[in-house]
Amino acid sequence: MLDFSYCNPTRLVFGRTAEAKIGGLVAAQTGVGGKVLVVYGGGSAKRSGLLGLVTASLTEAGLEVFEKGGVQPNPRLSFVKETAEAFRGEAPAAVIAVGGGSVIDTAKAIALMLADDPKADVWDFFTGKRVAEKALPIYAVLTIPAAGSEQSIRCVITHGETKTGVGAECIRPKAAFINPERFATLPRTQIGAGLVDMCSHIMERYFSATENTQYVDGQAEAAMRTIIETAPKVYEDPSNYDAWCQAGLAGSFAHNGYFGMGREEDWACHAIEHAISGWRESITHGTGLSVVIPAWMRYVAALRPARFEAFAVNVMGVAPQETAEKTIALGIAKFRTWTASIGLPQTLEELGAKDCPTEEIARRCCGAGTVGKLLPLAAADVAAILESAR
Ligand code: NZQ
Ligand code: ZN
Repeated sequence: MLDFSYCNPTRLVFGRTAEAKIGGLVAAQTGVGGKVLVVYGGGSAKRSGLLGLVTASLTEAGLEVFEKGGVQPNPRLSFVKETAEAFRGEAPAAVIAVGGGSVIDTAKAIALMLADDPKADVWDFFTGKRVAEKALPIYAVLTIPAAGSEQSIRCVITHGETKTGVGAECIRPKAAFINPERFATLPRTQIGAGLVDMCSHIMERYFSATENTQYVDGQAEAAMRTIIETAPKVYEDPSNYDAWCQAGLAGSFAHNGYFGMGREEDWACHAIEHAISGWRESITHGTGLSVVIPAWMRYVAALRPARFEAFAVNVMGVAPQETAEKTIALGIAKFRTWTASIGLPQTLEELGAKDCPTEEIARRCCGAGTVGKLLPLAAADVAAILESAR
């Protein structure tokens, strides 16, 4: 196991009354009388009444609330910049996201911008030109369990056809408010996509070459099994509160760093998928992953079989076969059956990306270098993986 230092300061407020607690908590941290900027998406939070509950809780706690809606999935830099400039004069003390990964990431980028020199370019943090060290406090009221941004240090934004992320402790939310009742209104495509995304955040850490990591391996396997086993329940009945509690909790911890303790992480599938949904922004992150992951598994397992055999047996419930290859193949097939059962595409064609320029996507994703750690992949490898998923 590798040396590590782990601290996750995000307070998790979970359950049926979660959103009602936001006002008191924010006021206690930012001070009564302060201003807060509430950011939300295309309207689901407004229609469900959640936005009203959140703003009422904030107002009752003595905070002055400014609102900005309209964040789109695969959020864009232009929206971040326009919003930050529109509210800079109000000098908000915190940014509050009511939504999913796209809204939370937009709030994070706004929080970075508002804490920065007004003349500086926030995109520098995403291109690696500057290191993000300060941001306004961020709070997240979650409406879709998927990206894990409510506890993560990551923020993923698209500019032109470049979709990329920045990672920094300063943008990890101070608190996440999760009421799984809120997931009942999710469309099935978003449910399936979210379940695969949360599972993949664990897989990106689990498929590691680092040895002697039995404790986190076992925790990761249990979390993946929980997501996979509860998936059909929430897919069939999105109002199944008890099942959402389990999937939602596992999905929120999936990306807070816990499952990466003491080991090298991979992240090739995410790099490949971000290149795809940067190229075609109508593609939902989790649906892209459902095509990329099995293709990546087949390619990498041929050269690094050990982890894939453990995954097949301990997560997918495959009985060990006479050869590791057979066990692994059954594990990958069961994973595909699972994603298909929650309505997700299996090929680039089913993803609506039949015309995917695989070499160009591979080049964007790898540049002159490689992606992934378990098996570093150059552009030719990524192109071969994508071709195998056509
Ligand atoms: O915009 P509204 O009207 O709210 O509708 C949204 C949106 O259309 C809808 N939705 C959300 N909650 C709902 C709901 N509809 C009905 N009822 C509800 N309760 O769902 C749609 C998708 O929302 P979005 O926020 O885009 O979903 P998700 O949470 O999957 O976020 C995806 C984004 O997060 C990034 C992805 O790349 C993508 O841009 N990621 C961010 C990460 C991070 N910051 O740590 C890590 C991830 O790996 C990921 O890359
Ligand atoms: Zn993801």
